[in-house]
Amino acid sequence: MSDRTTAHEVGRGDADASASDRPPATRPVDLRGVVKDYTTEAGAFRALDGVSMTVEAGEFIAVVGKSGCGKSTLLNMVTGIDRPSAGQIWVAGTDVSHLSERAMAGWRGQHVGVIFQFFQLLPTLSVIENVILPMDFAGRGTARERHDRAMHLLEQVEMVDQAHKLPLSTSGGQQQRVAIARALANDAPVLVADEPTGNLDSATADSVFELFRRLAAGGKTVIMVTHDTELAVKTDRVVHMADGRIIEPQGEDGRRAS
Ligand SMILES: Nc1ncnc2c1ncn2[C@@H]1O[C@H](COP(=O)(O)OP(=O)(O)O)[C@@H](O)[C@H]1O
Ligand SMILES: [Mg+2]
Repeated sequence: MSDRTTAHEVGRGDADASASDRPPATRPVDLRGVVKDYTTEAGAFRALDGVSMTVEAGEFIAVVGKSGCGKSTLLNMVTGIDRPSAGQIWVAGTDVSHLSERAMAGWRGQHVGVIFQFFQLLPTLSVIENVILPMDFAGRGTARERHDRAMHLLEQVEMVDQAHKLPLSTSGGQQQRVAIARALANDAPVLVADEPTGNLDSATADSVFELFRRLAAGGKTVIMVTHDTELAVKTDRVVHMADGRIIEPQGEDGRRAS
């Protein structure tokens, strides 16, 4: 933990200050000049080519772009699942790029909720056990408190009546709602979702989308990668990517006035 950077509340009002003239970690997500090179058989491949972006608390953004443009790589930078080749990444006040491998897993479990296209629930655990698991890993509260919190989260996603079922005996939309409850288990301030509606019919996708919107309204930072442009435009801001870069919308930075 030698060179780990922590957040300081600075209470500045200059929301338009550029990345270089404000201190680190005042936003839940703050990426600066992030580069990711993969080594492939054909040589080095640059999947991210200098990505800088910030996301506010309570902001719900969509990341869009063609397949292979670097969206999942970008999310993997935010979650610390993968490391940048260059650049700086602060998430929830921590300089993620400088966390040790060991520190990373524990940190992620408490600060970032991750939601995948194919849910990735553990099939041999019940719905409620899946939601309790991250709290077990984090050593959060007593067994009773973990159970009660899991029930409370399942209530929020309208899955209480399925709590003791196995995930695969529920529908895709229900599994995704459980995955969202699991992502909320440790009250992480940042939620990251990679094509969360990609495997859902449009009505179910809409209900998952509304759940993200409610979570953002409650102060979470939500970053959703999606192919669904109709959903994307309903978020607070759409970040467009191409060839490992963010393409800024013309004229302004795409941030909704607030
Ligand atoms: N582990 C890896 N090794 C080599 N190349 C990778 C790896 N992961 C992703 N890539 C490449 O990086 C590019 C971006 O991938 P990805 O972020 O998954 O794109 P997207 O999610 O936008 O479809 C793609 O060309 C992909 O083939
Ligand atoms: Mg992807």
